[in-house]
Amino acid sequence: MPDLIYTFRSITEPISLAHLFPTPQPLEVELGCGDASFLAEYARQLPEINFLGVERLLGRIRKLDRKGRRNGAANLRGVRIESAYLLEYLLPPNVATALHIYFPDPWPKKKHRKHRLINERFPILAWHALAPGGVVYLRTDDEDYFGQMMAVFAADARFQPMATPAALAALLTDFEREFNARGIVTRRAAYQRD
Ligand SMILES: C[S@@+](CC[C@H](N)C(=O)[O-])C[C@H]1O[C@@H](n2cnc3c(N)ncnc32)[C@H](O)[C@@H]1O
Repeated sequence: MPDLIYTFRSITEPISLAHLFPTPQPLEVELGCGDASFLAEYARQLPEINFLGVERLLGRIRKLDRKGRRNGAANLRGVRIESAYLLEYLLPPNVATALHIYFPDPWPKKKHRKHRLINERFPILAWHALAPGGVVYLRTDDEDYFGQMMAVFAADARFQPMATPAALAALLTDFEREFNARGIVTRRAAYQRD
């Protein structure tokens, strides 16, 4: 089984999806996939879709590799890179049928909010990454961040809110499990591009 972590030959040229996945099929991307419990399981359930996990921490992306290999996943790959950079420079345009962003770092202090991934610019990046009809799925425990997520997508008329499919909502991430166990409320939203 090959290494599931993609090594960039160049950080300025778009990724070749044909090089990354053995089978050309729809692509879904998780930004900040952490230990990849969600993505490894989702990829196992949906072999007819290719999944790319994006994570900046080496120790965590290595777990995607371990979990994916254990499942014999031909449709799962990981990249260690910053999410917004990947969307802006490395992902070919209009290729993803879904972007999953679950429990992105909330940066709760006001002076740090500029570091949030889902900001005013994010819908533009997401729109270019997504194929027509593609969907951004969001989850967070942070009420203020959730308000910001809803505001930035409401401000972009090319996205419409939609319900998260029940089967997807039922598949929990590591952080979500932890929040649930501690009784912390989590929220989710989904936006479909035109
Ligand atoms: C709070 S954890 C959530 C992990 C996982 N999505 C979950 O719900 O269990 C956020 C993850 O995103 C990663 N991360 C944060 N900002 C990132 C960025 N800009 N690009 C790539 N990864 C990022 C962190 O290293 C961390 O693993």
